[in-house]
This record gives sequence, C-alpha cells and structure tokens, in this order.
Amino acid sequence: MSYSSSDVRRLRTQFWESKQHIYAHPASLVASSDDPTALFTVAGMQPLVPYLSGQPHPSGKRLYNIQRCIRTNDIEEIGDNTHHTMFEMMGNRSLGDYFKKDSLTRTIEFLTDIVGIPLQKLGGTVFWGYDDPTNPIPFDHEAKNILIGLGIPEHAITSVPMIKGKKCDNFWGPAGTIWPCGPCCEIYYDKGDAFGPQDYDYTNNPRYVEIWNNVFMDSYKNADGTLTPLAHKNIDTGMGFERLITILQNAKSAYETDLFAGIIQTIETLTHTVYYPDADTPTKKSLRIIAEHARSCAFLAMDGVSPSNEWRGYIMRRLLRRMRFHLLLVAKNQNLDSSHCATELVSAVTTIYHHHYPHLLETQTATISMRSKERLQFSKTITKWRAVLDHWITKNTDHDLLPWDFVFQLHDTYGLPPDISDDILHTMGKRIDREWFDAAKQRAREASKQGADKKFGKRVDRAAICANIPKTRFVGYSDYEITNATILKQTILDDGRMIIITDITPLYAESGGQCSDHGKIITDDGQEYTVYDVIKYDGVWIHIVK
Ligand code: ALA
Repeated sequence: MSYSSSDVRRLRTQFWESKQHIYAHPASLVASSDDPTALFTVAGMQPLVPYLSGQPHPSGKRLYNIQRCIRTNDIEEIGDNTHHTMFEMMGNRSLGDYFKKDSLTRTIEFLTDIVGIPLQKLGGTVFWGYDDPTNPIPFDHEAKNILIGLGIPEHAITSVPMIKGKKCDNFWGPAGTIWPCGPCCEIYYDKGDAFGPQDYDYTNNPRYVEIWNNVFMDSYKNADGTLTPLAHKNIDTGMGFERLITILQNAKSAYETDLFAGIIQTIETLTHTVYYPDADTPTKKSLRIIAEHARSCAFLAMDGVSPSNEWRGYIMRRLLRRMRFHLLLVAKNQNLDSSHCATELVSAVTTIYHHHYPHLLETQTATISMRSKERLQFSKTITKWRAVLDHWITKNTDHDLLPWDFVFQLHDTYGLPPDISDDILHTMGKRIDREWFDAAKQRAREASKQGADKKFGKRVDRAAICANIPKTRFVGYSDYEITNATILKQTILDDGRMIIITDITPLYAESGGQCSDHGKIITDDGQEYTVYDVIKYDGVWIHIVK
C-alpha cells in the first residue's frame, strides 16, 4: 500500500496521541538559540535543548512534533537521491519518562504495524562503547537485546568500533559545543538487492538508508568535552520525513514523491523540459536543484528571512542564485520571465505544503515579490560577470582552462561561487582548471568531515590553541575586508594544518550547521594565506589557512 505524505502525517499524529504524547509546536527555521551565531534550526531537538537539559516542559514529559530544519553544508550534493537543504524531522521525546525499551518498541511498532514496512526490511546499529578510563561507556547490549526481542535478527544489528579510542558513530551530538547527548541506535531500511550486496554495512552501502535515530540521552556535554550525567534520562528521536515518504511511495528519491512532484512538474512546464527519474543527466540534476531550493526558500521566506549579503540572508541569496542559474541553464535560451517563474514556483510549493504550514499562504505574495527582485539583481550580476569573462576569453583565445585565481576573483568580486561558475563555463565549452577544481572540492569535503569531527571534539584541541588569547572581535556583519587586524597566533597543528588567530575578523566561523567563510589573510610583508575554514572556541576565531 502506498501512503500519501498527508496520510503519514495523520497516522503519526494518531499514533503518538494514542501513546499520550502532546504536540510540541515546532520552532521557526531561524534558530532561537542563545548562540547569536547559530543561523538556523539544524536538528529537531535544537529548540527543545532547555527541556532535554532538565527544565520542565509546560506540555509534560511526552512530546512529539515535526520540525523543519535547514543545513547548507552539503549544498554541492543537492540533486542526488538523499541530500536536502531543508528537511522535515519527525521526533518524539520523553523528558525523564520512558526510556530505551519503550522507545525502540514504539519505533518498530510504528514502522511495521502503522505504515506497514515488513520487519525483515529493518536493521539497526547500536553504540560500540567508549573506553576512556575517566568516563567509560559500555557497549549497548541492552539496545541490541531489545532489538532482537522485537524481531530484528542479530546479524542485522551492527555497531561501528571506536576509532583511535574515541567515541564515534552511534553517539549522538552535540551539534553545538555544549548540548545534551548520549548513545544512539539507528534503524535502517534495506532497499533490496538492486542497490548493493546484503552486507549490513549500513554506513557505506547505498542499499541501506537510515530512517529513524533513537538517542538515549543520558549526559550533558560540557565545554571541556567531559560528560555530566543528566538528572533524568531522556529519549530524543529523529525520523527523516522525506526518507520515510520515499520508501513508502517506493520512489528513487523524494523528488518523485508527492512532496516534490508538483514542484518538478511546474519546472518542466516553465522550462519546456522533461524530468526522467532514471536518467543520469545534468538536466535531471538541475531540475532537482531548482525544486529543492524553491522549497527551502519558500520556507525561509515564511520564517522571515530575506536575501541579503549578511548572515542568514546570504545563505538564502545563494540558494536563490543557484536556483535561478539552473533555471536559465535548463531553459537554454528561452526567455524566462522572472516574476512568472517566481509566482509559479512559490505557488507549487504552497499548494503542496499549505495544509500543514498555513502561514505559507499568508506570506506567498511577499515571497513572490522578494524573489522577483532578487532575480533581477542576479541577472545584473551575471551580465557583469559575463563581460569580465568575455574580456578574459578575448585575451586568452587559446586557453579553455580558466585559472583558479581568476575563478576566485569572479567569486570575490561578483559573488559567483565556483560551482556555479563551473556550470556556466561548461555550457560555453570552457572549464575551470579541473585538477584545481577537484582538489578544491576535495578540500571542501575534508573541511566538512573535519567539521563533523569538530562536533565531537576530535582532532583539534581548541581549548589548548586558544589558551590565553583574548576573544576575537567579529565584524563580518558590516565588513568584508579589514586592514587593521593583528595576528595574535600563527602555528602549525599536529595534523599539519596551519592556523592564524587575529584580534579582529570579518570571516564567519562554522556554527550551527553552517559552513564558515573563506577568504585571505595578507600580512604587512606581503605573505598571503588562503583561509579555507574558520572554527571558533570560547569566543576566539581560528582561521585554518594554507
Ligand atoms: N537528534 C537526533 C538526530 O538528529 C535524533 O539524529
């Protein structure tokens, strides 16, 4: 049986209400955290951190909701089968009430009895353990035995061993530096033989998709990385709505489900193209990017974000520009009326989502007008960019490889990110120096992996690096370039990376799931360093440079 996404929302509401859970009104995409640099809500539990840390919730001890979240760290992956900038996370929480057994039992009950996933399609991972002598955490035999008792075969339950003695997979959080956290148990769905061998290698095999994470939240992570037991243990769970709907509608990706199909159809009509789900073509990828960014931007606008050069607005501007660029790309030379496109795309998103997000209807007109204006501005940027590029081409007729410093210049001056530059150049028979571009992408991937490591306090000992250094003055909301900064520390870390700490910086540091800015530091004696990542610790900004 195939369920519509509305069916699943309804079934889930009925399920949790039958288990005496109260609906906790979800928060906006704009993070309401105490950390003023946390841009967006990046996890379903984020708005509930005070309650998961011990504060009583006015609605009681059993809560459920569906929380819209946005993460833009993997923006270049959008268009594949699994990544999204915005996603809806379904969560249920126990605040000092039920724990592991009830939580896992309800998870399996919902998936099998309520939405009809066969038990033999499910598997799970449990926490391997942590052998820190001061803070040991044992292998989670209890979770494993509960899963076995619920009918999951032992061979379908795995755990990833510790890497170099550190906690790794199956220990959730904190996504910020100090949050409640604990071992977790991920439930995976097996898509079948067509997707890979049945090896239960859940994290590396595309055959398996994680659908529901149960966090057994028993600790609070302190700023120095130590864990303090929580006064009462909580359950925090997260189930990716798009992933569940993809499974239940037997689709390849969310783009073929009722969460996106209407948006894709609108784009097909606007651009006179056809979306082939089985094709592996640039057009398919572009159509998905347009649909994905159209949805995210409609929700960002609903939550009060507008495009600008600052902060959240910059993220939205980037999404809108990528969307516009891909529209122009697939429409080839057809004239696309920007206000008509905005009207149609915003309406398509609203039609699908307004029953569950009525505020989308109220903000629809303002969103359309904001998008049309932004598109006009972007057209001017593209025009300027083309003039600079054409000039370069005239002077370098025998080159079809654009040097990377020129591409950086296009980015710095005209705000055109290299991924979009590369896409545009491709259509002109020109290319960015691929070797450089691939290396840059690899560095970005590594930086993002290090970002994940940083979440768990691995590798970079930020406390040691920042000892005795005064807090950095961040001026990035008003300045992009400054000339009055002083270098306070410059050193090479154990892992070979060089860092520079200055007293003032305009570069945004990775925070709240958002990537850091990139930039340059040029010293008085002319030494030039490229900043490819910025992290922060206790108010000190650390530029990672090369
Ligand atoms: N907070 C947990 C997660 O996001 C459930 O996976």
